[in-house]
Amino acid sequence: MKIGIAADHGGFELKEQLITYLKPLGYEVEDFGAYKLDASDDYPDFIVPLAQAVAAGKLSRGIAVCGSGVGASVAANKIAGARAALITEHFSAHQGVEDDDLNIICLGGRITGYVAAEELVLAFLRAEFSGADRHQRRLEKVRVLEKENLN
Ligand code: RB5
Repeated sequence: MKIGIAADHGGFELKEQLITYLKPLGYEVEDFGAYKLDASDDYPDFIVPLAQAVAAGKLSRGIAVCGSGVGASVAANKIAGARAALITEHFSAHQGVEDDDLNIICLGGRITGYVAAEELVLAFLRAEFSGADRHQRRLEKVRVLEKENLN
């Protein structure tokens, strides 16, 4: 499975940790930066290219990290086809995929510890969209919204 990961300075250390964790498990991980810790960098510069690659189908899933996870989710969700959410507990990590076809998990590098983040990411990556009619119907309503708000 090819996935992408991106972070600003607030998420940089967790990003590096997750790459180290995921590669031996067989995930092909594309790193969208930041490539060094720079306290003055801005999360949209890394999160938006990641979200665009996920929305374009170049990656199966994305992991977006900032200090709180909030800015990452705000930025990622501006991209049509990106379905991003800040995740802090296990249930939503998989149910967000199963019901809402979540394709980007957002994490707070200053909020969620390494081991908890690893477990959340695995639950997210291993989950599959159910494809149930009611979930397809709801997603189609989201897609209509995206088309109406083309920018
Ligand atoms: C950066 O200091 C911090 O504001 C950012 O990483 C993130 O938490 C924004 O939501």
